[in-house]
Amino acid sequence: MALITNVSDYEELAKQKLPKMVYDFYAGGAEDQWTLKENKEAFSKILFRPRVLIDVSHIDMSTSILGYKISMPIMVAPTALHKLAHQEGEVASAQAAAAAGTIMTLSSWSSCSIEEVSSIAPGLRFFQLSVFKDRDIVQQLVRRAENAGYKAIAVTVDAPRLGRREADVRNRLPENVVLKCFEGLDLSKMDKTKGSGLAAYATSQIDSSLSWKDIKWLQTITGLPILVKGVITAEDARIAIECGVAGIIVSNHGGRQLDYLPATISCLEEVVREAKGRRVPVFLDGGIRRGTDVFKALALGASGVFIGRPVLFALAVDGRAGVRNALRMLRDELEITMALSGCASLKDITRDRVITERDMIR
Ligand code: FNR
Repeated sequence: MALITNVSDYEELAKQKLPKMVYDFYAGGAEDQWTLKENKEAFSKILFRPRVLIDVSHIDMSTSILGYKISMPIMVAPTALHKLAHQEGEVASAQAAAAAGTIMTLSSWSSCSIEEVSSIAPGLRFFQLSVFKDRDIVQQLVRRAENAGYKAIAVTVDAPRLGRREADVRNRLPENVVLKCFEGLDLSKMDKTKGSGLAAYATSQIDSSLSWKDIKWLQTITGLPILVKGVITAEDARIAIECGVAGIIVSNHGGRQLDYLPATISCLEEVVREAKGRRVPVFLDGGIRRGTDVFKALALGASGVFIGRPVLFALAVDGRAGVRNALRMLRDELEITMALSGCASLKDITRDRVITERDMIR
């Protein structure tokens, strides 16, 4: 196998290995894919202000997320259908995350079940919840995640409808992909005459009337902490905090929903400003491909980051070992970035260690 030196190498190899429709499904974004590109490019406009002559002989990257100690502030974002990448699917990704000492978020659209993942792979896990019209299904999913030991519910709030990903419109995904979270649930209302399979049914069941009152409702049906995934404005951050959420994930769904949203790294500070002092952690996902990106997000106020596509591509190339290696490479890159910036621990990564375009205008 070609020498892999960074997570983007996995994308190149995955492109050669995966069927085109699967690669396109994983890699693609909505419409013109402007946000997809901007998520990555915006990181390159943030530069460092390192400090020197600081003892960095021991670097501590460990942190605590919702009270759970993890080895580094890099976690796995929820992404659909890992079995399209590798036959072991989400189980392999979860095992790799556990081996890396970090948290994996299982998608509602996973191809391994909630229970399969928790019984085969030890480790800390969150469950990503898509809210469906049928609230019985939602309750059952939450209950199953609780029973299987998942530690938090990350509710996706930026997808009242699915964004238009044109590659998927052209290619169509295999009809036989199995959404394991729905198996065994009461799907009696499914209109079998339409004949478009479970995936199409599940998509048609997304509740586009979802609103803040439903976040409150979720808090009444579970004791698990609730994170909202997909907030990018101060206004929504304020409401989320008033609702008592346990955390906010600044996300634009990896550029797969509304196109022409700013990069998440460009939205982070306004959300952090709103959350500051209220002890509500803010996380970020979107476009993280380097340890330097992780450092920049932490300097701008994130408590941790999540990665999506790098996990899928590494899984496609080399299964569990690939994901483990991708997480290790990001960790090593963060470590060297910290050393070269004069930061021995995460608390040393302060706002003055980076300079953004806005700082230059001021
Ligand atoms: C996603 N994402 C996503 N989000 C979510 O809340 N539920 C889901 O089921 C999925 N599924 C999904 C599938 C695929 C193929 C991708 C690429 C993404 C979005 C994901 O959680 C995350 O927000 C982005 O992937 C982060 O951007 P990067 O790291 O992929 O650039």
